[in-house]
Amino acid sequence: MKFQPVKGAHDIFGKDLLIYKFIIKKISELAKIYDYQEMITPIFENTELFLKNLGENSDVVLKEMYTFNDRSNKSLTLRPEYTTSMIRAAISNNLLEKLPTRLFGYGPMFRRERPQKGRFRQFNQINFEILGANDSYSDAEMIILANNFLTKVIPDNEFQLTINSLGDLDTLSKYRKELSLFFEKFKNDLSEDSKIKIQNNPLRILDSKDPKDIEISLSAPKIYNYYSNFAKSKFEEVQTYLKSSKVSFLINPNLVRGLDYYCHTVFEFKTNSLGSQDTLIGGGRYDGLIKSIGGPDIPGVGFACGIERLMLLGDNILKETSNVQVIIIDEKFKNYGFDLINNLRTNGIETVYDYRFNLKKSLSIANHNKVQYAIIIGEEEFTNSYYTVKNLLDSTQEKKTYEEIIGLLKK
Ligand code: HAM
Repeated sequence: MKFQPVKGAHDIFGKDLLIYKFIIKKISELAKIYDYQEMITPIFENTELFLKNLGENSDVVLKEMYTFNDRSNKSLTLRPEYTTSMIRAAISNNLLEKLPTRLFGYGPMFRRERPQKGRFRQFNQINFEILGANDSYSDAEMIILANNFLTKVIPDNEFQLTINSLGDLDTLSKYRKELSLFFEKFKNDLSEDSKIKIQNNPLRILDSKDPKDIEISLSAPKIYNYYSNFAKSKFEEVQTYLKSSKVSFLINPNLVRGLDYYCHTVFEFKTNSLGSQDTLIGGGRYDGLIKSIGGPDIPGVGFACGIERLMLLGDNILKETSNVQVIIIDEKFKNYGFDLINNLRTNGIETVYDYRFNLKKSLSIANHNKVQYAIIIGEEEFTNSYYTVKNLLDSTQEKKTYEEIIGLLKK
């Protein structure tokens, strides 16, 4: 029997692993720049943590959690998301004494969803949270950070930001009631999935992908009509900060998010290149969650990014890598080439060498691997003590000395 990964799980290697590592490198640099402390938490927690805090009527809790009893009959769940685990960890480790606490982490999450392109049962998320900051600037900071991250890994035209405000808890409870009344009138026309949500989770109907549900939702009551003055001015402040930071966004009053803990600002970064699983990043504010997990009554805001979804945009991402492939055209210049390879690696420069003496084949490998520079060594280079450096991204080519190469690559 030939074993395969479990349905919805996948192995990461080769080119995908390069992209994965590149993404982690970029986000780790940003986490440092924005002053976030990294944290690694267990991949399983007591089931109750998620059951109680993600929303008893959310899809994640109703149908997607990997929950099992261990040998002492304790109910455990593989984490379906990171926010609740991070808050639990911040409370367990007394990290909420000097506020705000900024946390960052990444790793595998588990949801038993129907697998499709961009949707896995084990997938990796990058996660950022600010615990204990009320200022609207903290909502904006999250969005600016996420935007900054995406611009570092994919072209600007690959993603769009949409924001909304769910108002405060009072807004939400009034709005939920109004929505239930509204959808009740269209009960017979709604999809089977949405019918079930009319009473318990009407907000999620706004997020349905069923064409009939979408049509009905267009005329549903709008949340902005239920904002308090505070909710309204908070949302305006967030928008002002985003505008002054030159982050472009659209407002979608039907943007609600899938987990129940949100209030005030919610946001999503979507792409046009992935079909239906198009949300790269989702996040927002959750003011009652930390208290509900057993911590102090302080607010929080954060986001998570699906690493696999970014990886699927792979070709665009790897253009930014700057590793090097050394190509020795003829065995006669092997020693001259090996010296260079050794020196580059000693200088910390990622260097690929494929043990071929075939310019055409090696160049095609370098192009396939999205290597930025090919350093070519042949008779002319050996005789005149220089190297030919070909930039594979723009197809320019220059003669360079060893010192010049180090200067170029160690920038
Ligand atoms: P979420 O919207 O459930 O939010 O997930 C965030 C991101 O994780 C999605 O936008 C997507 O990129 C990725 N993702 C989710 N499910 C899957 C899947 N089955 N396969 C592949 N990728 C997936 C949260 O998890 C919140 N905890 C975000 C947050 C942090 N809010 C505040 N702080």
